[in-house]
Amino acid sequence: MKALVYDGPSSISWREVPDPSILAPTDAIVRIETTTICGTDLHILKGDVPTVEAGRILGHEGVGIVTEIGAAVAGIAVGDQVIISCISACGTCGYCLDGMYSHCLADEGSSGIGWILGHLIDGTQAEYVRVPFAGTSLHRVPEGVTAEDAAMISDILPTGHEIGVRYGAVEPGDVVAVIGAGPVGLAAMTTAALYGPSRVIAVDIDANRVEQAKRFGASDGVLSSDADWKDQVLALTDGLGVDVAIEAVGVPATWDMCLAIVRPGGHVANVGVHGKPVSFPLETAWIQNLTITTGLVNTDTSRMLIKLLAQGRLAVNGFISHHFALDDILSAYDTFGRAAETKALKVILTA
Ligand SMILES: NC(=O)c1ccc[n+]([C@@H]2O[C@H](COP(=O)([O-])OP(=O)(O)OC[C@H]3O[C@@H](n4cnc5c(N)ncnc54)[C@H](O)[C@@H]3O)[C@@H](O)[C@H]2O)c1
Ligand SMILES: [Zn+2]
Ligand SMILES: [Zn+2]
Repeated sequence: MKALVYDGPSSISWREVPDPSILAPTDAIVRIETTTICGTDLHILKGDVPTVEAGRILGHEGVGIVTEIGAAVAGIAVGDQVIISCISACGTCGYCLDGMYSHCLADEGSSGIGWILGHLIDGTQAEYVRVPFAGTSLHRVPEGVTAEDAAMISDILPTGHEIGVRYGAVEPGDVVAVIGAGPVGLAAMTTAALYGPSRVIAVDIDANRVEQAKRFGASDGVLSSDADWKDQVLALTDGLGVDVAIEAVGVPATWDMCLAIVRPGGHVANVGVHGKPVSFPLETAWIQNLTITTGLVNTDTSRMLIKLLAQGRLAVNGFISHHFALDDILSAYDTFGRAAETKALKVILTA
């Protein structure tokens, strides 16, 4: 089969590789219909995620058809159209039983890390993928939902919802700022609406993304390149700062921005994958009664989000900006990697 292989920082190729096969009785093989590229894949390309070894097939999102299942797979059958979760969950370890699938203790990839696809084992940017723990890591696509909309459940919607909105503890009436209006930040904005914030402020360095954010429930937008961006944000609050600042970029500057705009007693929810150290000025922050959260998506809310999607209650089709054939994935990386110029959000690859 053909697959997108990571050959080391800044180097990827679309080439012939061996077909995957069932290695454990809980595995399934899925023929990819639709996959997409994540901001995390760009971090991998930059060398920010050194645990990804050369030779790895990237990708942790997608929808496809089950072509083969191991003897112990329950609940999923050959021929099912399924959403592949970015987190592989064995379903039986202590973390899985607590719903914290992100730290699944099973031996696949590395015990204690649930994000293994396109990271520690081969991923979804390929014609076929082996999915471990298929019974607990695949979700059937509901009737009436397109494959490309369903692919937004693999990662971005649960990530924005769980690590941004739920960890940030968004409550009715809150003023929420989301720094970074990429797909993950937009997913946080879309799902924040489920909790009734009074304002959702989109902050980005890219004017196009600030503008696009209005389609995902942002009430206000602030361009972070404006010298007075902070004053603009504070003017949208009672002057004390935002209740919840969600970091959805993954660079030190945007982490600092969150600390600069959060009110005393507020929450900073870091979603971004950071490749460099950030500073935390505890000497001034200690007195602010802040709650700081961070983490890897659990995907424990995916089934709930699928229900909302099936009912047309989540605005998802706006996420998709570009379509490519799967074997044109290098062009898709180029387009997604130059989002400020190309206005790309989610790029969809179709087999
Ligand atoms: N925690 C998790 O489980 C998890 C899961 C998926 C993705 N992520 C991470 O979430 C982050 C966002 O992912 P994405 O796919 O939306 O990425 P993306 O690259 O598409 O979006 C990032 C956005 O940040 C903006 N930006 C960059 N520098 C900025 C600055 N200095 N000030 C303001 N805005 C700036 C960009 O213009 C862009 O709109 C990434 O770091 C990704 O790795 C985390
Ligand atoms: Zn991702
Ligand atoms: Zn587990």
